Amino acid sequence: MTGNKPTLVIADPYMAHELLVSNGKVTSNRFHNNDRHDFQSNNTPGLILSAPDKYWNTLRKTGPRQLKKMTPVLRNEAREFADAISSTNENINPTPYLLRTSLNFILLTLSGVRTTSIEDPLFKKATDMIKTSILYTDFKYIFMQLVNPSLASVVRPFILGSNTIDVKREVFKHYEYILKPFYLEIIEKALDSDQDNLVKALNDEINQGKRGYYNNLMPAIHDIIHAGTDTSAMTIAWGFIQISTMPNIQKKIQDEIDLFVSKHEGRLPQFWEREAVPYLIATQRECFRMRPTTDFGVIHEAAEDFEWRGNIIPSGTFFMTNMIEMHMDPVKYPNPLEFKPERFLDKTKDSMFASANHKIEERDQYNFGWGRRLCVGAHLAENQMFNVWVETLYKCNIMPALNKNGHELPATLTTVPPNSGPVVTGPHPFELRFIRRN
Ligand code: HEM
Repeated sequence: MTGNKPTLVIADPYMAHELLVSNGKVTSNRFHNNDRHDFQSNNTPGLILSAPDKYWNTLRKTGPRQLKKMTPVLRNEAREFADAISSTNENINPTPYLLRTSLNFILLTLSGVRTTSIEDPLFKKATDMIKTSILYTDFKYIFMQLVNPSLASVVRPFILGSNTIDVKREVFKHYEYILKPFYLEIIEKALDSDQDNLVKALNDEINQGKRGYYNNLMPAIHDIIHAGTDTSAMTIAWGFIQISTMPNIQKKIQDEIDLFVSKHEGRLPQFWEREAVPYLIATQRECFRMRPTTDFGVIHEAAEDFEWRGNIIPSGTFFMTNMIEMHMDPVKYPNPLEFKPERFLDKTKDSMFASANHKIEERDQYNFGWGRRLCVGAHLAENQMFNVWVETLYKCNIMPALNKNGHELPATLTTVPPNSGPVVTGPHPFELRFIRRN
């Protein structure tokens, strides 16, 4: 149980598929978080929390269409990332730089706005904002909304700490006074821009292009910024940690990239040319399998009672998918603890997004979720990860940090502990060196 909600934690992908894809019509709801209600004053709860209705459908269709159009700007952001982290050859924590790359891509896609460095006040404001909002989606905040109100006042100090008096008010103030002004500025800039952007497309679809009423846009913008920034950045960070102690793997990828460059007058491969770099694609997938970015995906909720394998699953049941267990299945992934990109080499033709829409036995991995709620930004995330990997490995060797005596301090999945957030699990702060190749 989670509060008063029956909860199924699913570790078997076939079961997850039956429950969340075959029965997706009744298992694709989300838990409605009351503390966000004031922000969603006209009952349009964005993308992540919305029931799978017409408004949600419009958002899901409009988003990816626009995002695909914008992918060329990713290349510049990825190049800037690789230049920034390899500028000194010294120990560096790449996480803030990765967060900026992800954030820039989302902001550029939404509105044409971008941050100029990790010192840029806009970057600091946006990342603080994201951190605080994510805190409010923490399991303990959800739990507090589900326990009986009389019990809530007794357990609150133990669960949220003695300083938290009124959770609803605290969250309301964050949405009203921090997030809303930020989103309004983004919306106005986007609508004033001469360029196509996602805000314009959403405003055309939802408000028939009229200006002045944006309450139904803000929750969607909020979701895209929050769901898209940490996830992609942390996935790349875990990948770089893993390959930093594997020079032979990096060399194979670099050989592929160099060959492409030599055959294409010095230019690097684009995402749609990924078949030319199969070892890179396979390695990315192996890194993603070894360390999923979400521990339990995003919770689905049953919209009504339904029967499954002779059991009645009650309305309101929560479904969580155990991403770590699923990606360690020894039948699908023989010797699952072994780092072996070769296991994905016959699956590199399809993008991860395409594979996620295949039959369960043909899926390569499950990190982008299930059925109707499948990650709407998967294509964008893959594109971004591809560009950052290509630019970085073309320019640099990723190497362990050095201590004061010049000895290597390897960062690995064992030495860098996971920092589990409410949804995304990133690495605790770590350092690597990005050494320019000749
Ligand atoms: C590697 C990066 C990413 C990972 C691992 C990831 C993972 C996920 C997962 C597990 C879900 C829940 C699926 C389900 O409920 O079954 C999800 C949903 C979602 N993701 Fe992503 N995501 C990533 C990148 C992105 C990006 C870049 C964006 C935005 C551009 C994005 C936007 C969303 C949204 C809006 C939803 C909610 C969709 C809905 O509820 O209908 N994600 N993602």
